Order: sequence, then C-alpha cells, then structure tokens
Amino acid sequence: MSVISKYNRYSYVYDLMDYPTEVAWYSKWRKEFLSGLSGRVLEIGVGTGKNLPYYPTDSEVVGIDISKKMLEHAKTRAEGRDNISLFLMDAENLGFKDNTFNYVVTTFVLCSIPDPVAALKEMRRLCRSDGEVINIEHMKSDNRLISSLEDVFDPLTTGLADIHINRKTIENIKKAGLTVTEVKNLALKDVFRLVRSKP
Ligand SMILES: C[S@@+](CC[C@H](N)C(=O)[O-])C[C@H]1O[C@@H](n2cnc3c(N)ncnc32)[C@H](O)[C@@H]1O
Repeated sequence: MSVISKYNRYSYVYDLMDYPTEVAWYSKWRKEFLSGLSGRVLEIGVGTGKNLPYYPTDSEVVGIDISKKMLEHAKTRAEGRDNISLFLMDAENLGFKDNTFNYVVTTFVLCSIPDPVAALKEMRRLCRSDGEVINIEHMKSDNRLISSLEDVFDPLTTGLADIHINRKTIENIKKAGLTVTEVKNLALKDVFRLVRSKP
C-alpha cells in the first residue's frame, strides 16, 4: 500500500494514536520551536494540522501534505485562521518559487517520505538564503544498542505505517546541500532531535 493510502486510512485515528507522545513530548516541542516563527512559513507533511495552533497569527503559514484525508483534518483545525493555507502536494516536487519562505518546517515527516533527500532538496530550494529549515524528527541513533533495535523494528514500522525508524536524517540533510547549524537531542537519548539548517 502506498504512503498516500496508508495516511488516508490512518487519518481518522491519527490524533488518537499519537495522543500519548503528543502529551508527553510533541506539544511541548511544537510550542517551544514553532511559536516564535515569523514571516512566511512552509510546513511540509502538515498531517492533521497538529502544529497549526502554535504558529503566531501574524505569520503566513502554507501547509502541504500528500494525503487528502490528513489535509481534511488539518483544514478543520485551520478554520477561522486567515493566515493559513493548505495544499495537496508531494514534498518531492513542490509547486512554489525558489527562495520564498523564511522558514521551512517538518515534524515527524522525514521518516515517511519515500525519498527524503529529494524532499530536503526542495526545502533548500524554497528556503530564503537568510531563512532556516527546522526539522523535528526521530532518526537513527548514534548509540549502537538503540540503533540495532531500530534496525530490528524498522521492517515492522515500515510495513505497518511506512515509518522508517532508522533513517540517517542528519546525513540526508547534509546530502541535500543544507548546512546544519544546530542539533539538539530531545528524547530517547538522540532518537528525537531538533535540527536547524540553512540553504
Ligand atoms: C507522521 S505524519 C506527521 C504529521 C504532522 N507533521 C505531525 O507533526 O503530526 C507524516 C505526514 O507526512 C505526510 N507525507 C508523507 N510523504 C509525503 C510526501 N511525499 N509529501 C507530502 N507529505 C507527505 C503524510 O501524509 C503524513 O501526513
């Protein structure tokens, strides 16, 4: 089954499935790292719109996702927010002009995009030279025990939900030509990290 079909199907239960991690970690990170953004913000893989309440009302937010059903939930969350627009688009081939966004954001998305380097190249293209790419993601740990466990469970998470838990995301960000400026470990040692980079 494709990423699109999986997320279309999961869209109805996504928020419920995510609830424990949302309460424990995600909501805190969304607030801490996104509530201070300004200008034009592009969010890739906006999903059901969990980040939308955190963006300042004076920012201009553009969200895209490849799943129509996930986007429908995001549209409900965005109701009454004139500064938010949402589009059905593939992260690997985005229909926006070069250098147009002050910030490009992903949260828990680079694990499910089929070609994450292609998507990161699009993020680099769309981010202004004085802008910033912000990725809050889970990735392959540098710890040998944790990374072995990630390798063991990857076929399961990939089969169930197209979630690749052992991706070398920092390497992928660099492969896309972005310059990493900050890496901050957030949880499970270094599995969940905040990565800031520049085009
Ligand atoms: C795990 S969800 C994360 C949703 C949201 N960012 C959050 O923090 O809750 C991953 C999202 O990425 C989207 N996605 C996967 N591949 C994509 C692609 N190639 N282009 C755009 N969105 C994609 C999925 O449809 C899904 O909504």
